[in-house]
Amino acid sequence: MKKKLVVLSGAGVSAESGISTFRDSDGLWENYNVMEVASIEGWYQNPELVIDFYNQRRTQLANVEPNDAHKLIAELEQYFDVTVITQNVDDLHERSGSTQIIHLHGELTKVCSDDRKKHVEDIGYETFAFGDLAPDGQLLRPFIVWFGEDVPLIHQAAEIVAQADIIIVIGTSLNVYPAAGLLYSAKRDAQIYVIDPKEVQPISRQVHFIKEKATVGMKQLLSEPGFL
Ligand code: APR
Repeated sequence: MKKKLVVLSGAGVSAESGISTFRDSDGLWENYNVMEVASIEGWYQNPELVIDFYNQRRTQLANVEPNDAHKLIAELEQYFDVTVITQNVDDLHERSGSTQIIHLHGELTKVCSDDRKKHVEDIGYETFAFGDLAPDGQLLRPFIVWFGEDVPLIHQAAEIVAQADIIIVIGTSLNVYPAAGLLYSAKRDAQIYVIDPKEVQPISRQVHFIKEKATVGMKQLLSEPGFL
């Protein structure tokens, strides 16, 4: 039976595809007020601004490609039973061939009705406008988990982390909870690898740290004796 491997990914895995991270010096939150464009309060205050922000992200997504890190993560499925738990709302893990993906913070290519429950629709890379309605008559909104909202998939993700033999944390500053707390669900003897060019502070466990960008770090990990 294949060992269970979880990839916990964040914005850094998509950085080399040309998508900005959030908290690096050139990150998105340098140029935008996070509470205006990515919180439930922001949505109530200025929905046009929020929709415009996500329309721009969606248009950008249509023009970028998965990088070698996404591709190597997809290739891990040849050797392991892999689940990718990502904080990213892009679809680059899907486009590089990973088959089991949990999007903790939603998906850019989808919209949903305003209560986030009844209607979810894939609009691909199209834009939409404030006032567009779902078939149930509610306003359409981005299918994104904003600050101030619960994270519906967190319990499912924690159960999967709890079963993992190997965990690869890649490209996340682990600043945002509850995603950042997922490692606390890991088995005591799970092997944990962290790939990031910067030190990731909040990890209290013994980890194997690969201080590299995602593409280089994934190549290095796969060539480590005994990993595959
Ligand atoms: N390869 C790997 N890691 C990289 C690279 C790269 N090429 N470039 C930057 N990084 C690392 C940074 O060093 C940092 O540790 O990626 C991490 C990015 O951290 P954040 O910008 O905080 O992104 P993330 O952890 O995904 O943010 C979590 O915050 O705003 C919310 O909802 C948003 O899902 C997002 C959440």
